[in-house]
Amino acid sequence: MNETAVLQLRNVTKKIGRRTIVDHLSFDVPRGEVFGFLGPNGAGKTTTIRMIVGLIGMSDGEVYVQGIPVKKEFENAMRHVGAIVENPEMYKFLTGYQNLVHYARMHSGVTKQRIQEVVELVGLKNRIHEKVKKYSLGMRQRLGVAQAILHKPSVLILDEPTNGLDPAGIRELRDYLRRLAREEGIAIVVSSHLLSEMELMCDRVAIIQNGKLIDVQSLHDAKTVEQRRVTIETDDPLRAKETLESVLSVTDVAVREGEIELLADREQIAVITEMLVHAGSKIYGIRSASKSLEDQFLEMTGSEQIV
Ligand SMILES: Nc1ncnc2c1ncn2[C@@H]1O[C@H](COP(=O)(O)OP(=O)(O)O)[C@@H](O)[C@H]1O
Ligand SMILES: [Mg+2]
Repeated sequence: MNETAVLQLRNVTKKIGRRTIVDHLSFDVPRGEVFGFLGPNGAGKTTTIRMIVGLIGMSDGEVYVQGIPVKKEFENAMRHVGAIVENPEMYKFLTGYQNLVHYARMHSGVTKQRIQEVVELVGLKNRIHEKVKKYSLGMRQRLGVAQAILHKPSVLILDEPTNGLDPAGIRELRDYLRRLAREEGIAIVVSSHLLSEMELMCDRVAIIQNGKLIDVQSLHDAKTVEQRRVTIETDDPLRAKETLESVLSVTDVAVREGEIELLADREQIAVITEMLVHAGSKIYGIRSASKSLEDQFLEMTGSEQIV
């Protein structure tokens, strides 16, 4: 058994009637990692998460939390798990702090000091004594996360945490999840149907479709040499294409309205940008996506619904 893996799924399966909704899923998540669970709507993400946290039973397979089997030792295993699966229950007329005190009573050994600690970890320190009804969606979610980690779990699971958040909220979520993973040494599992968000948040991503694990990919290893699909927004795409072809002998530059697209690795992106600016092109934006992951996801969903 991998000693650093605090969450392990082994052949986790859910059948409802004749349908297999989750089909023999196996993966490990180590301490300190933000692990993405990516798949289109209906892929089986929520069902898998509900099995991990014991909200529904497994038809087959087992989940281990710190080596403890969830099926056989449910309560023992759940002491190490924090999760937000459905909307967390909050008392809107109480303050954030009062809500946390309320939840702290449900666990033994949560001190006042621990409450302060989680409040700081999720960045709610300045607003914690305000009533929850005044909180934005992002703040409510932070409070939910604070609540879920009060008892110092080793695994934190969030089902579609970016739903309803604006880009700034998503960036903040990413920042504090990374801090949590690092500072508390938690393994964090986040699900999403959006590749772009996963790329921002996660160290590794598992792709699932129709309940099956398609692949697990690392997003940060070897990033420097990985070919990425790069889109550059520019004032004159044709001129930009010519510049790249003549100066850098880059071939396969696709021209679209207001932008060009090409394949390049991370270092090449820097050179390309410099060349374009030097040649007088205006650059309004640069986007890049890990090619293999995006292609795989596009093939899988069969559309261009990635945003
Ligand atoms: N209780 C249930 N009974 C029957 N089918 C279900 C039930 N729960 C989920 N499903 C089906 O299982 C599939 C996976 O659902 P879900 O896990 O919610 O996907 P995701 O979270 O990836 O969008 C969907 O086709 C859904 O309709
Ligand atoms: Mg879902």
